[in-house]
Amino acid sequence: MIRTRCEVLSNRRTGAYHSITLVAPDVADKARPGQFVEIAVPGGRDFLLRRPFSIHQASRRGGWAGTLEIVLEAGGPGTAWLAGVKTHDVLDVIGPLGRPFSYPAELTSCLLVGGGYGAAPIYFLAEELRARNKSVSMILGARDHERVFKPIEGKRLADSVVVTTEDGSMGERGRVTDALPAAVARTGAQVVYACGPNAMLRAVAEYCLSRGIPCQVAVEEMMACGLGVCWTCAVPMIAKDGRGWWNMRACLEGPVFNGARIWWDRWLGEREPEVRKPEVAEDLPEPQPVEARTW
Ligand SMILES: Cc1cc2nc3c(=O)[nH]c(=O)nc-3n(C[C@H](O)[C@H](O)[C@H](O)COP(=O)(O)OP(=O)(O)OC[C@H]3O[C@@H](n4cnc5c(N)ncnc54)[C@H](O)[C@@H]3O)c2cc1C
Ligand code: FES
Repeated sequence: MIRTRCEVLSNRRTGAYHSITLVAPDVADKARPGQFVEIAVPGGRDFLLRRPFSIHQASRRGGWAGTLEIVLEAGGPGTAWLAGVKTHDVLDVIGPLGRPFSYPAELTSCLLVGGGYGAAPIYFLAEELRARNKSVSMILGARDHERVFKPIEGKRLADSVVVTTEDGSMGERGRVTDALPAAVARTGAQVVYACGPNAMLRAVAEYCLSRGIPCQVAVEEMMACGLGVCWTCAVPMIAKDGRGWWNMRACLEGPVFNGARIWWDRWLGEREPEVRKPEVAEDLPEPQPVEARTW
C-alpha cells in the first residue's frame, strides 16, 4: 500500500460519469483488478474521510505507462468536488487497497457483469483474463443509456456483450439479472464476476449459487478508514460448512468476496428492505449451509 501525491492528467466526461486519469506509477505498478484507492478530498468537516474508488485501469506499459484511472458519478459533496478537478491538480491517494479478483486456474469461460459505474473495474479484469487465455463475455447494465459504461470498449474486449437498460434506451429493456440466465446458457459461463450495486450483486450471486457457478463479487460498503482499523465496512460471511458466521472487512479482506459466502439477508436486509425483508435484529436464524467453493 502506497500513499502518494498524484498529478491529474485528465478529467473527461464519459456519459454520466467522470473518468479521471492520475499519474501514479507506484500504485499503477502494484494494482490488480478489483482493488481500489482512497482519495483525500480537501476542505472542511464534510471531507474528513477519504473517498474510495475502484481502479478502472492501471497502465504499466505503453505511452500512458504509470497512470491510474478511476470513474466516478458525482453525487454527494466529495464526488462532486472530485468531478471538478482539473489537469495538473494534485490529489492525495492511498492504494492499491483491498483484495483483488482471483483468476480461475482451469476454468476458461468467464462472464463479467457490471452495473452502472460499478462496471469500471471489469475492463481491467477482462484484459487480465484475456492475457491468461480465458474467454470473456460481458453484461453491462444501467438505469439509462448515459449510465451504460463504455459499451464500445466492452465490444472490443469481450467475445460478446449484452447491454440492458431499465428504461430501454439502449440494448434490452430490464436489468442485468434478466439477461443473466440466457447469457450463462449461451456462453457456457463457468465463472461469473460481478461489480455494481449491492442488490444486483446479491441477485447475481444467488442465481450463480442455484446453478453451482462460482461467483466473485466486488462489494461497496461504507468505509471510514479504508485501512482495516475501524470495522465500519463489515460484511457478514457464512462459514464454509454453513455452521457459523463472522464479519469480514470490505476494505481489507474484500472488496472482492465469494458471492456464495456472503450472508446477504443479514448484510442488506436491514438497510435495503425493498430488496429483502429485515431479519429480527437480535434473534438471528441459523445460517443456511452453503456449498464450499474453492478457487
Ligand atoms: C470499494 C469501493 C469502490 C467504489 N468505487 C466507486 C467508483 O468506482 N465510482 C464511484 O462513483 N463510486 C465508487 N464508490 C462509492 C464512493 O466511494 C462513494 O460514492 C463516495 O464515497 C461518496 O462520497 P460523497 O462525499 O460524494 O457522498 P456522501 O454520501 O456525502 O459521503 C459521505 C460519507 O459516506 C461515505 N460513503 C458514501 N457512500 C459511500 C459508498 N457507496 N461507499 C463507501 N463510502 C460511502 C463517504 O466516504 C463519506 O465519508 C466505491 C465505494 C467503495 C467502498
Ligand atoms: S473502513 Fe475501516 S476497517 Fe474497513
